[in-house]
Amino acid sequence: MALSGGSTPRRLYELLASEYAGQIDWTALEVFFGDERAVPSDHPDSNFRMASEALLDRVPLDRERLHRMPADSGDPVAAAAAYESVLRERVASGPDGFPALDLVWLGIGDDGHTASLFPGTEALEERRACVVANEVPQLGTWRMTLTFPALCAARRVQFLVTGASKARIVEAIERARSSGDLERYPATRVVPREGEVEWLLDRAAAGKARGG
Ligand code: 6PG
Repeated sequence: MALSGGSTPRRLYELLASEYAGQIDWTALEVFFGDERAVPSDHPDSNFRMASEALLDRVPLDRERLHRMPADSGDPVAAAAAYESVLRERVASGPDGFPALDLVWLGIGDDGHTASLFPGTEALEERRACVVANEVPQLGTWRMTLTFPALCAARRVQFLVTGASKARIVEAIERARSSGDLERYPATRVVPREGEVEWLLDRAAAGKARGG
């Protein structure tokens, strides 16, 4: 599976590490990340640090099967290629030749980005690589991210969206989807070829879209 970064999944990760820990065979998991910031693993902005604090350091994962994205590497392009090699080595490819993760968790930003696939960035156009270093001018930084080929090869994608601050983008996406405009936001371009995509919203995030 691939874990989502950002702040939304923290509560889910904490629940998985506590109330639900006994229901999961942690040794069976191979854990990747959807994206990472260009910071060390102990930096407050690190997705790896957030996931480690909330979950990964609290459950009996096989650490050999936990794969942090080295987005702070001095050579992000080479580091992305190396991460892709591990992904391809550890995850069987589907009929389209891309590694088919069983489960990918994603969040969504106010601009409709997901992972580190931000509007107007080069990674949106990637059709071959599964992992790229993506320059994000609107943040003035680099990110490492899974690409649409990798995300769309997954067997199951779940967007986790909570909080009233997300109601506007959720409503905008529902409008775009109902008008068939799936290209408008990076998040709506995650359409698994074989698998399924689900949006898991709390009431606050779903508010406006449901006339709430
Ligand atoms: C990241 C994420 C990003 C995140 C959204 C939502 O590295 O920030 O991968 O895509 O999921 O920006 O972030 P929040 O959960 O903090 O609202």
